[in-house]
Amino acid sequence: MATPQIRKDTEQLSSAMMLREMLCGFWVSQSIYVAARIGVADLLKDGPQSCEHLAERAGVDAGALYRVMRTLASYGLFEESEPQCFGLTPLGSLLQTSVPMSLRSLAIWNGEVSFKAWGDALHAVETGQPTTRRVLGMNLFDYLGQKPEVGQIFNDAMSGLATQVSQAVVSAYDFSGAGKVVDIGGGQGTLLGAILRVYPEMHAIVFDAPAVVEGANRRLEAMSLAERCQVVGGDFFERVPEGGDTYLLSSVLHDWDDENSLLILRNCRRAMRQNGKLLLIECVIPHSSGPDFSKLLDLQMLVVTGGRERTEEQFRTLLSAAGFEVKRIISTAVPERIIEAVAV
Ligand SMILES: C[S@@+](CC[C@H](N)C(=O)[O-])C[C@H]1O[C@@H](n2cnc3c(N)ncnc32)[C@H](O)[C@@H]1O
Repeated sequence: MATPQIRKDTEQLSSAMMLREMLCGFWVSQSIYVAARIGVADLLKDGPQSCEHLAERAGVDAGALYRVMRTLASYGLFEESEPQCFGLTPLGSLLQTSVPMSLRSLAIWNGEVSFKAWGDALHAVETGQPTTRRVLGMNLFDYLGQKPEVGQIFNDAMSGLATQVSQAVVSAYDFSGAGKVVDIGGGQGTLLGAILRVYPEMHAIVFDAPAVVEGANRRLEAMSLAERCQVVGGDFFERVPEGGDTYLLSSVLHDWDDENSLLILRNCRRAMRQNGKLLLIECVIPHSSGPDFSKLLDLQMLVVTGGRERTEEQFRTLLSAAGFEVKRIISTAVPERIIEAVAV
C-alpha cells in the first residue's frame, strides 16, 4: 500500500517528468529546423525513401539523419513505413517549400536567427531590451535589410504564417464596403492577395520596406492581382500611403514598443480618409492564467524584436492615444484576432 511519503514522491516524480519534457522543447524545434534546412520534406514529396538515399541526396550523415527522422517520426512529422525508410505525414508535409501554408521558412528562421537571439534571453530579461542588438550587432529589421538572404527567409516565414492568418481573417470579417484597403507592413502581399481574390471590385495598396515589397510585386502578378493592387515601398515611421478607407496592420504593432507603435498609428490616422477604419490583426493576451499562444509570442517579441503582445486594455489605450476608438474585437480560427477601430 502506498504510504503518504510514497504518494508525495510519486507526485514529485510526475512533476519532474513534466518539467524534463518542457526543458527539452528546443531539442524538438531544433530537430525540425535541421529537417527543414536540409529539405527532407521536399525530397520525400514523391513518396517514402530509405534514410541512406535521403542522406546521400541531402549530403548529410545517414546514421545521424536516421536518429533525427526516428525522433521526428515519434512526434508525427514522418512515418517509418519500413525499417529505416520514411514518408511524409500531413504534419511533415508542411515543411515542403512550395505548399500553401508552408512552415519550412519559419522552421529555418526559428532555428537560426531566433535561436541565436534566445541563447541570450537572460540579457533581455535583465535589461528589458531585445538581444538581437547584441547578437546581430543591430536591430532586427536593419539586419534583415542588410542581409538579403536572411531577409528572404524572414519574408517567406511571414508569408507562410500570413497564408494561415489570411484564410482565417477572410472567413471572419466582411470586407464589403471597406473601400480602398491599405496594408501597412504588408510584407509580400499575402493577406491582401487573399482579400482581393474574394472581393473582385476592391482596390488596394501594399506598403512595406522597399526590399520587401519587391517580393509583393511578383506574388501579386502571379495571382493576376497586380492591376488592382499598387505596391509602395517606404518607411512607416515617416509616412504611409494616403487616401485609403481601411488600413490594415497585421502582426506589425507587436514588433514595436508603445512609443514606436504610436508613430505608426498616428501616420495611419493622418493618411486615412475621413471616417477611415483601422484593422489590427494581432493576438490579444487574455486575463486567464492558463496557457495561451499570445504569452509565448510575447516572449519572442521581448527577445527578438523589442516589441510586445498586448491585452485588450493595452490596445484600447494605445489606439485612443493615436485618435482611434475600438469598435469590436473579432475572434478568428487562428490565435490572431481582428481589432476593428475607427478614427475619432
Ligand atoms: C512581422 S512582419 C508582418 C508582415 C505581414 N503584415 C504579415 O502579417 O505577415 C512585419 C513587417 O513590417 C515590415 N517593416 C518593418 N519595419 C518597417 C518600416 N520601418 N517601414 C515599413 N515596413 C516595415 C517588415 O518588413 C515586415 O514585413
